[in-house]
Amino acid sequence: MRLVCFFFVFFSMLAFCYGGDRFVYFDWQVSFIDVSPLGSNQKVIAINNQFPGPIVNITTNDNVVVNVQNNLDEPFLLTWNGIQQRRNCWQDGVLGTTCPIPSGWNWTYSFQVKDQIGSFFYSPSLGFQRAAGGFGGITLNNRIVIPVPFGKPDGDFTIFIGDWFTSNHTNLRNKLNNGHRLNMPHGVLINGKGPYRYNDTLVPDGIDHATFNVDPGKTYRIRVHNVGISTSLNFRIQNHNLLLVETEGTYTVQQNYTSLDIHVGQSYSFLVTMDQNASSDYYMVASARFVNKSSWARVTGVAILHYSNSKGKASGPLPDPPNDVYNPSFSMNQARSIRTNVSAGAARPNPQGSFHYGEIKVTQVYHLENKIPVKIDGKLRAAINGISYSPPKTPLRLADEFGVKGVYTLDFPDKPLTGPPRIGSSVINGSYRGFIEIILQNNATKVESYHLDGYSFWVAGMDFGVWTENSRSSYNKWDGVARSTTQVFPGAWTAIFVSLDNVGIWNLRTQNLDSWYLGQELYIRAINPDDTEHKTELPIPENVLFCGELSDKQKPQDHTAKSVSSILSPRSQLFALLILLAPVASLLLM
Ligand SMILES: *[C@@H]1O[C@H](CO)[C@@H](O)[C@H](O)[C@H]1NC(C)=O
Ligand SMILES: *[C@@H]1O[C@H](CO)[C@@H](O)[C@H](O)[C@H]1NC(C)=O
Ligand SMILES: *[C@@H]1O[C@H](CO)[C@@H](O)[C@H](O)[C@H]1NC(C)=O
Ligand SMILES: *[C@@H]1O[C@H](CO)[C@@H](O)[C@H](O)[C@H]1NC(C)=O
Ligand SMILES: *[C@@H]1O[C@H](CO)[C@@H](O)[C@H](O)[C@H]1NC(C)=O
Ligand SMILES: *[C@@H]1O[C@H](CO)[C@@H](O)[C@H](O)[C@H]1NC(C)=O
Ligand SMILES: *[C@@H]1O[C@H](CO)[C@@H](O)[C@H](O)[C@H]1NC(C)=O
Ligand SMILES: *[C@@H]1O[C@H](CO)[C@@H](O)[C@H](O)[C@H]1NC(C)=O
Ligand SMILES: *[C@@H]1O[C@H](CO)[C@@H](O)[C@H](O)[C@H]1NC(C)=O
Ligand SMILES: *[C@@H]1O[C@H](CO)[C@@H](O)[C@H](O)[C@H]1NC(C)=O
Repeated sequence: MRLVCFFFVFFSMLAFCYGGDRFVYFDWQVSFIDVSPLGSNQKVIAINNQFPGPIVNITTNDNVVVNVQNNLDEPFLLTWNGIQQRRNCWQDGVLGTTCPIPSGWNWTYSFQVKDQIGSFFYSPSLGFQRAAGGFGGITLNNRIVIPVPFGKPDGDFTIFIGDWFTSNHTNLRNKLNNGHRLNMPHGVLINGKGPYRYNDTLVPDGIDHATFNVDPGKTYRIRVHNVGISTSLNFRIQNHNLLLVETEGTYTVQQNYTSLDIHVGQSYSFLVTMDQNASSDYYMVASARFVNKSSWARVTGVAILHYSNSKGKASGPLPDPPNDVYNPSFSMNQARSIRTNVSAGAARPNPQGSFHYGEIKVTQVYHLENKIPVKIDGKLRAAINGISYSPPKTPLRLADEFGVKGVYTLDFPDKPLTGPPRIGSSVINGSYRGFIEIILQNNATKVESYHLDGYSFWVAGMDFGVWTENSRSSYNKWDGVARSTTQVFPGAWTAIFVSLDNVGIWNLRTQNLDSWYLGQELYIRAINPDDTEHKTELPIPENVLFCGELSDKQKPQDHTAKSVSSILSPRSQLFALLILLAPVASLLLM
């Protein structure tokens, strides 16, 4: 009884110290496992032997602690796409803020998911590793007291779609290093599995597919993430409507779609009602967009929606994709139709529309343009405004903290540079608490998905052609969707607004893995110049890893240690517990 009481007091004190917000712990082993999703055996990155990795199912304001043990033979980092890491870019897991976790080492991420709800995913951020897996879902639930603009679904599925190569990520990386572009992917995976054998010619025998089991009449929330390399995918379920309800943390105006284009790195959640008569199973399809249908036919993901009263297997042709392969206007109009439900709240009870982003004074304007990758100094590179980013060995944020000079320059140009492109480590000088308008102009030939860490931004508009001052008249200044990943069609622009209220240094990148790997990214620095007492930003974490010019500060790590229990003997565990309990005990004795 006494002991139970001790524990109770101890944990409630912990909760008290952190303002009552819950702690959620994850212990992850990251390693290669052998799978053969498309028939040939390959190594993929698994988390706790799972591919895709486990779902982080958390609630607004939770404190999340994830201990990541890197058992790969190369450095590793995870980034939490769409999770804002408020005042805490230390935990962002990209090279500008964080040193890589060396092979055999572990590092513990610790962050609070403040004021957010929605569907997100985590993924590796280094060395093309996302092409080998290592991703998983983040389901960020609302607190019980916060209303949701739809009834509680009968079930919840997370679905990962993405193009996939049977060549492994080290080979793909070498290919890019040697100046080649990637060819057509070998297929599309759904939840780590290959396509259902809907056509004997296109799908070989012996491929395992994903199946989603449902009951007739029920309504499920499905969260779909494109975690692929570089292919825009059209997602659809045979005979079923997709009622779009949320994207990357914003509740949308609820609309039915028969199919939706999901670009690389984007997340959407839908409500799907099982309103068919189950004369057979139904196809769930993710097919490549804006490509020659016949030559890309095998680059199609097919899973099965199985009703518990189903009368047979799915058969016949797949449901048709939009029939507009060489004209992306339909897709752009569909993207424009996705709007915020301004009378719905999100993580807070007040409606999101009360934030009038369209009326805020813009303090900085940046035109960012990408072109087809070109050779710089003999290497194939992708650039923004003519600068191809090269990550310095010392993370930018650490360089700031320890006064290491000359690591980067704060001079990113606000317009495309004329003249030959170059390699550099140039950063946007963001004005903290400013309001920035960014016009993303895609001068290349494929859809690019741009993602900003640390924020969600308002998508104000997109159109074909070159952006001009007049383009502002077409902006949606009222119910544009707030998200963290937007598509920019080839030969077109997308304009976004960002309120730079989250202190830190934040990555803006293309999520198209090949262009990202080749340097199509930059950082925005938003530091409070008046923060002499270091109160705006959270302090540097105690377990921070050092590298680059700061590597002599790094203490060695015991490479054989895999978990606490293997380091600590039972006796020292008891000792550790006593140390933890000592303050409580002394309180009780007072
Ligand atoms: C990738 O394949 C090559 C052989 O083609 C092999 O040498 C390499 O070890 C593989 N890498 C991984 C991570 O499986
Ligand atoms: C996720 O968390 C929510 C809220 O705590 C809970 O209702 C739900 O059952 C959980 N889902 C899974 C799959 O564990
Ligand atoms: C590595 O994991 C151990 C627990 O297994 C933890 O005590 C330690 O702080 C972790 N190291 C870092 C750098 O986070
Ligand atoms: C918007 O949200 C409100 C508030 O939850 C809800 O009642 C309404 O049905 C939603 N409207 C649409 C079109 O999604
Ligand atoms: C299977 O796909 C091939 C190649 O696209 C096509 O020619 C054939 O008609 C398809 N078979 C069926 C039964 O649909
Ligand atoms: C969406 O489609 C379903 C049928 O699948 C229908 O019951 C529902 O009313 C539609 N909702 C809207 C908002 O159009
Ligand atoms: C219901 O199932 C039968 C076969 O069992 C099929 O012929 C019919 O078209 C189905 N009706 C609907 C509305 O799907
Ligand atoms: C699509 O690809 C097929 C097979 O490679 C080719 O025969 C056809 O001409 C192509 N169609 C277009 C419109 O490019
Ligand atoms: C960055 O911008 C601030 C104003 O927001 C200015 O004071 C500072 O000089 C700029 N730094 C550089 C290096 O341009
Ligand atoms: C790229 O820019 C050039 C020069 O302005 C222009 O001629 C070309 O049409 C543009 N291409 C695309 C795809 O935007």
